[in-house]
Amino acid sequence: MNFQIFFQKMKMDIDKITGFCKEKGFLFPSSHIYGGLKGVFDYGPLGTQLKQNILQQYWNYFLIPHDNIVSQDGSIMLNEKVLEASGHVKNFNDPVAISTKGERMRADHLLEEHFPNMKAETMSYAELLAFMQETDIRIGNDRVAFVEEANLMFSTKTFNGPKCYLRPETCQNIFVNAKLVADLSRLTLPFGICQHGKVFRNEISPQNFVFRCREFEQLELEFFFNPSLVLEPKVAHFEIACSFANGENRLIQLEELIDRVHFWHLHWMRQMLVWLTQHIGLTREKLRLREHHPDELSHYSSATFDVEYLYPIGQESSFKELCGLANRGDYDVSQHAKYSSKNLKFKCPQTGDKLYPHVIELSIGMERLFLAVICDAYEFNMERDYEVLHLKESLSPIEYAIFPLPSKNHEKQLFLDCALDIQSRLKLKHKHTFYETTGSIGKRYARQDSRGTKWCITVDDMTLECRSITIRDRDDKSQRRINIDDFFNEL
Ligand code: GAP
Repeated sequence: MNFQIFFQKMKMDIDKITGFCKEKGFLFPSSHIYGGLKGVFDYGPLGTQLKQNILQQYWNYFLIPHDNIVSQDGSIMLNEKVLEASGHVKNFNDPVAISTKGERMRADHLLEEHFPNMKAETMSYAELLAFMQETDIRIGNDRVAFVEEANLMFSTKTFNGPKCYLRPETCQNIFVNAKLVADLSRLTLPFGICQHGKVFRNEISPQNFVFRCREFEQLELEFFFNPSLVLEPKVAHFEIACSFANGENRLIQLEELIDRVHFWHLHWMRQMLVWLTQHIGLTREKLRLREHHPDELSHYSSATFDVEYLYPIGQESSFKELCGLANRGDYDVSQHAKYSSKNLKFKCPQTGDKLYPHVIELSIGMERLFLAVICDAYEFNMERDYEVLHLKESLSPIEYAIFPLPSKNHEKQLFLDCALDIQSRLKLKHKHTFYETTGSIGKRYARQDSRGTKWCITVDDMTLECRSITIRDRDDKSQRRINIDDFFNEL
């Protein structure tokens, strides 16, 4: 193979991943036969199952083991009062740069494209405009004429009812319901409520496939606690790269942060990192923590650390936000109490105090996690000369592919029946399976490897003669022969 082709195949970039996801049926543009809709995507069959498996891992880790964490499923449409109270109507804005011809782009991103080391997020709109005009940054060929504020929420109206918004984050339903849900579930502080669902943001420049879209899903956990209780500050070791707000970058042991953040913040930071590395299978070296600079903190946050992933975005890959871990203080519950005039205080069982609880938030965007999972698992395997998706077994959309390999020694139907019987038994165990009879065995393996299927089972002469099958591992191609009943006993 010549070197140019070799390097082309090695390099993974966001366009390659976009094409791969579309070709294999993971994710593709919505409304695509009509030219698509920017920033909006549909999940295909494999993508839907992969997403479902990620969600199951989330539920298994963050919800099921904890007696003091419950779930809820709130509405997408919210009364405008909810978002006035939360501060989104006033503050959920991004700067939009408008060219002399009326083209629009997100101003801070436009600037950072030209000056990657600048922290545009901390600049005022006037400073952004002045800098862009001075340095002649353009949108296409045209100069920037204005920088304006744009609210990112989609608003709508019900018949005869109030104005409402499509929620821009799932957590507002949680804050509105916190007291009710806690009472219904007989929960006392500390406790958590988690929720998964769609959110909508009218992003000015949706880009980089699903990294920045207009319709996406969030997995959010809000953990409510009494901040005045002194806790035993013990956090187990976890080594991770960290980029601090003062510009310092280094490997840290998580427990070093105990003096900078609240114990519960650190506790959930660790839980998140353990989940991402051990349960979702992301490479630890491709993750880092990033502390928010005080100037870039959201209006509700007193401290935020993002977990960033090394996405193949830009000329070189770059660390970008995968999820956020914020200390929201008592901002949300007290705001909703103030705007609704309802009593939303909680009684602390330890101190007897009545208070607005403080909240640690774990907020993950499903699409960004999905993208990180695909990027992390993707390999162009030079030896096999095709793509292999090394997903964690628990995430594979298809766990077992079953291939009958008929030979002249037995009637073809016997191979097919035996393979179908194995598939039915796997289905009874709720395993996701795929049955295929056509194509060479090499091509069948290749198709499954690129879809992330962990195991391929073949049914051959020996299966009919002594009830043994071969099981092939996607990652190292190793095969073992095993008796059918032993295989099912092992499952
Ligand atoms: N409740 C807090 C909150 O919504 P955020 O940082 O605005 O905080 C949380 O969003 C997560 O949602 C992000 O870490 C990211 O994973 C995801 N996210 C945000 N905007 C997104 C977009 N336009 N497209 C895809 N995912 C997005």
